Amino acid sequence: MKLLFVGDVVGQAGRQILEQKLSSLIDRHFVDLVVVNAENAAAGYGLTLSVMGELYKAGAHVLTSGNHIWDKKEILDVLDRDKRLLRPHNYPEGLPGRGYGIYETAAGLKVAVVNLEGRVFMKNLDCPFKTADRILTDLSGKADMILVDFHAEATSEKQALGHYLDGRVSAVVGTHTHVQTADEKILIGGTGYLTDAGMTGAQDAIIGNQKEPALQRFLTQLPVRLEVAKKDPLLCAVLITINEETGHCEAIERIQERP
Ligand code: FE2
Repeated sequence: MKLLFVGDVVGQAGRQILEQKLSSLIDRHFVDLVVVNAENAAAGYGLTLSVMGELYKAGAHVLTSGNHIWDKKEILDVLDRDKRLLRPHNYPEGLPGRGYGIYETAAGLKVAVVNLEGRVFMKNLDCPFKTADRILTDLSGKADMILVDFHAEATSEKQALGHYLDGRVSAVVGTHTHVQTADEKILIGGTGYLTDAGMTGAQDAIIGNQKEPALQRFLTQLPVRLEVAKKDPLLCAVLITINEETGHCEAIERIQERP
């Protein structure tokens, strides 16, 4: 079974290259399920209904997110009613939406997708490790394989969650830094791991934003308004092959696609 996970789609440049490249990637690699991190898909901040429609049309089956999912108010209702859209599960109870779901492939396989957010250099959320334990207890016996999108800043926290869940999930893939790491591996217990899937958006940029305003922020320490960059688009993703009997990862391959 092959699962394609696409790293943070940022703004129009990200959506355009996704639309151009995703269907051929699906065909070329016989992909069964496509999961896309979409938290920056609407002009770099959050998600709108129309942007979600574009992502589904491009071939996404499930959308994960992160800290920016709350940016656009129109999405709050959608989080409750569209089960294909996930937000990190370890936010305070009572917020709209959910952080995991089970999705059936065309071949009838049940794939659980779990979305968590890190706490190092980020918000003071519930423990992602203990939250993962609770989710796995709930998923027990219900899914053939489990993918975790860990939206986190610190490499150490991402590696720690990978090892914590090793053997209990099919793969742990990081998002949020917008830079693809080159450390794809299969951990001892059979869990596929990549610290960060990278960004699907403009590369002639500072993590997807236009260089000049982003640079001015650092030079002046003022809250200069950031604009999404458009030049040099790149699609970053990771292709994960999972054994249908064991749920373990058999192969993990980084992907980068240019126009
Ligand atoms: Fe993020």
